[in-house]
Parts: sequence; C-alpha cells; structure tokens
Amino acid sequence: KKILFATSETHPLIKTGGLADVAGSLPLALGELEQDVRIIMPNYQAIRNCEPGRYLCTVKVNNCDVNLLETWLPGSQIPVWLVDYPPFFKVPGNPYVDDNGMPWPNIGDRFALFCRIVAEVAMNRAYLDWQPDIVHCNDWQTGLVPALLSLEHQHPASVFTIHNMAYQGLFPATAFTLLNLPGQLWHPEGLEYHGMLSFIKGGLAYAERITTVSPTYAQEIQTPEFGYGLEGLLAHKQSQLSGILNGIDTEVWNPAIDPHIAQTYGMKTLNDKAANKIALQQQMNLPVDAELPVFGLIGRLVEQKGIDLILAGLPELLELPAQFVFLGSGDKSNEYRLMEFARLYPEKVAVTIGYNEPLAHQIEAGADIFLMPSRFEPCGLNQMYSQRYGTIPIVRKTGGLADTVVDTLPESIANGTATGFVFNDTSAATLTEAIKRCLVMFRHKKDWRQLQRNAMSRDFSWQSSAQRYLALYDEI
Ligand code: ADP
Ligand code: GLC
Repeated sequence: KKILFATSETHPLIKTGGLADVAGSLPLALGELEQDVRIIMPNYQAIRNCEPGRYLCTVKVNNCDVNLLETWLPGSQIPVWLVDYPPFFKVPGNPYVDDNGMPWPNIGDRFALFCRIVAEVAMNRAYLDWQPDIVHCNDWQTGLVPALLSLEHQHPASVFTIHNMAYQGLFPATAFTLLNLPGQLWHPEGLEYHGMLSFIKGGLAYAERITTVSPTYAQEIQTPEFGYGLEGLLAHKQSQLSGILNGIDTEVWNPAIDPHIAQTYGMKTLNDKAANKIALQQQMNLPVDAELPVFGLIGRLVEQKGIDLILAGLPELLELPAQFVFLGSGDKSNEYRLMEFARLYPEKVAVTIGYNEPLAHQIEAGADIFLMPSRFEPCGLNQMYSQRYGTIPIVRKTGGLADTVVDTLPESIANGTATGFVFNDTSAATLTEAIKRCLVMFRHKKDWRQLQRNAMSRDFSWQSSAQRYLALYDEI
C-alpha cells in the first residue's frame, strides 16, 4: 500500500511532544512491513538532523506558490516531503508558538495551507507521479485534509488519528471565509462547531476511519469528561472509531545502547543502572546517595499532566527520604512553583525548565521511579520508556496509562505481571498514597528487582500496532 503520513512534527527533525515520536517511528515500522510510506510536514526553520531538502516541484494553492522539498527520515529510506512556504514557516519558533511562547496568530492560515497541499499531493496533482491509497492524518493540524478530499471524485481514503482531543483547532466563523474554504463544508455535520470553525471536526466528520492512540482513550472520548463537546459525534461514529496503542522506538529508547547515558545496562546487568543515578545526582547538584529513591518526571508542564497534584503533594513528599528530578516546560505558573521548590529544597528537588533530549534519557536511566499523574493521557510514551529502563512508573488510571502499566498487587506480583503503581482519583492524597506504597516495595530490594525485570521484559515495540494499522488500511 502507498501511504501518505501527514503530521505537524516528526522526530528527530522537530519535536514538541509524543506526536513527533509516533511520526518518527510508525512509518518506519510500516516500512518494515513492506509498505510504501511517505511523510509530509511543513518545512519549519527549526528543522534539524536531516539532509537539506531537495527541490521537487511547485504547487499553487489558494493563490500561493508552495514548494515541495524532499529529504529522508535519518538512517532510513522513508521520504519526508517538506511543504516549503517561507512566509509561514521560515520563522523562528516551534510549530505552534513563536520564540516567546506565544501561539502563532496565523496558525489557522499555516495549517490550512498545509492541509491544502496534502490534499493536492493525495490527488496526485503535485506532479510527483505518486498517488497514495491511504492518507493518514494526525491531530487537528491535518483535520481539513479529509474534509477537502471528501469533495473530490475518487479520492484516496483517509484515516484520522486523534493524539489529543484537548487541542481542536477552533477559530471564529470569519476564519472560514478568510481561509477561503469550500462553502459545502460549513454545516453542523461538517466543519462548523457551535458557530466556530473546527479543524479537528474535519477529521472526525469526513475521515473513513478514526483512531486514537489507546483503547481506553477511545472509550473515554465518547464521554463528556474527555470529549470536549465532540463525544456525541464520536459515539455516533463508534463503528469507525478504534484505539491502537502507540509503540515506541526501541532503538532510540534502549538502555543497552543509549549514547546519552553514563552507563548502559540491561535486564541481566541491572546493577549497572546505579551509575546513572549517581551521574544524574551529580549533574543535578543533588547529594550523591545510591540508596535514596530518585523520582523523575519529564513532560509538558500543563494541566493535562497533573503537575498540580505533584505541587500540592510535594510539601508532604519532601519529608520522605527521596529526591525529585523534574524536566519540562509549559505553564509559567507551574514552572515558577517547581523552581521555588528547587530553590527552597536544593538537596531534594532539581528542576530543569526547557526542552532537553539528552537529559530526558538521563532521567529515564538515572531515576528509580517515574511520575505520571496525568488527568488524561491519550497514550503517553514516557511510562513505556520508563518500563524499558527499569524505572518504575507511578501513573493515574487513565487512557494509555491504564493500558500500559500493571498495578502492583498481591496477584500481579505472584504472576509476574506487575510493572508499576496505578492510582485512581485525581487528588494529591491518592498520588501520595501510591508513592508511599511504591516506597515500601523499593525497600525490599529483591521484590523491586523483580518488578524492574517485569517492566523491562514488556514488549512496547511497534510490531503489533503497525500490523493493526495495516489491517485498518486494508479494510477501507
Ligand atoms: P505528550 O505528547 O502529551 O507531550 P507523550 O508522553 O506522548 O506526551 O510524549 C512526550 C514526549 O516528549 C516524550 O518523548 C518525552 O520524553 C518528550 N518530552 C516532553 N517534554 C520534554 C522536555 N522538556 N525535554 C525533553 N523531552 C521532552
Ligand atoms: C499526545 C498525547 C499523548 C500521546 C501522544 C502521541 O500528545 O498527549 O498521550 O502519547 O500524543 O500519540
């Protein structure tokens, strides 16, 4: 099958979150299953780690001349087509915000242009002599693609994957006219959402199949708590909706060969993991103590991730013999409050604000326990990376976290399936309780080792999920 994979970010070219990890690894897994996959994304100024794009062609959409350039996913044969329109993309900043962290005022124009180009390429009108059978779209930034394709005679089928329902690409109704979108798409079963223009609805209403990144999240988004007003539409489309768990890149996230960490290790050399803890303590200016449990957290510091639960629990947690290493960026108030804890308790809390890939690997390898108390989590990747690194995750029972972490209970200990600690309520008290439960186990070295081995032996590779996507492509 020929698959055009449309995304707003791809690791290692550009990344703000898990979508990039998926876009940088799922196409590879599909390629290994003999599929002809090509990635298409905007040509941002901040793109790194790939060969400079080679000019392919120029396509005119909505009165703009847009170039397509070609490069490759590093170390692979997967082509990446870069949509090159300098007035929109040749500017400093990330795909969604400018250098000062302010959302792009023209973000609707940017991704509408991107969607138009994806649709042109999908219809083989870009002089590339290649037409996909399937257009696989991801998140709201690509939502207009299925909508535009629906207006074409004999168009390729589209799959729309929801990585996060919280981001919908909502704009005032005037944007619909300003973007010069086809009038047939403006109705309540189309792109209109309570009088606003909704990009994500283009994907939900017009794609032949909708997927999301875990089975539990696929259920959750059909309820008001997680559906943000689109639960009705999703429940209605239930027969076209499925949850396919993300895989992880097992080369990039492999403690046995990870070039970023102080000491590589594996299941049989778990004692070597301790050297990473010491390196992390040194690097973070924390007292070096191999016996102290070190808690790690990496992520966007936004409401989704439950940072407020940690902030509320920290005063009590700081009385425990433990250290905390936080890495992330996001809401300024969360950043500030975390930094205050680091300032007041420098021997217990280390905070790094910003995006730092090597440090993310060092925390995965150096911490004993990983915190992920998300309020909602479509899939989540760090809890899977953690398990692979023998770093025991503590997660809230939601979305992909519920699907990938097995709580430590007498039964799961006995049958060797326990891999972490799972708690239910969104409260600091239940998080703290789970942390204390975890620390009891941590003190029993033999049981802890077993838990680490259980976690490390889980298979989170793309293999089975890529097969599921393939089966889905075959269906349509
Ligand atoms: P989300 O996509 O909601 O942000 P995921 O768990 O799916 O959450 O993926 C987040 C990805 O981004 C992981 O690979 C994580 O390691 C990475 N990441 C998040 N914040 C940072 C950061 N500050 N520095 C380095 N990597 C980060
Ligand atoms: C989103 C979700 C995250 C998921 C990622 C990749 O950003 O928040 O849970 O793992 O997409 O699918």
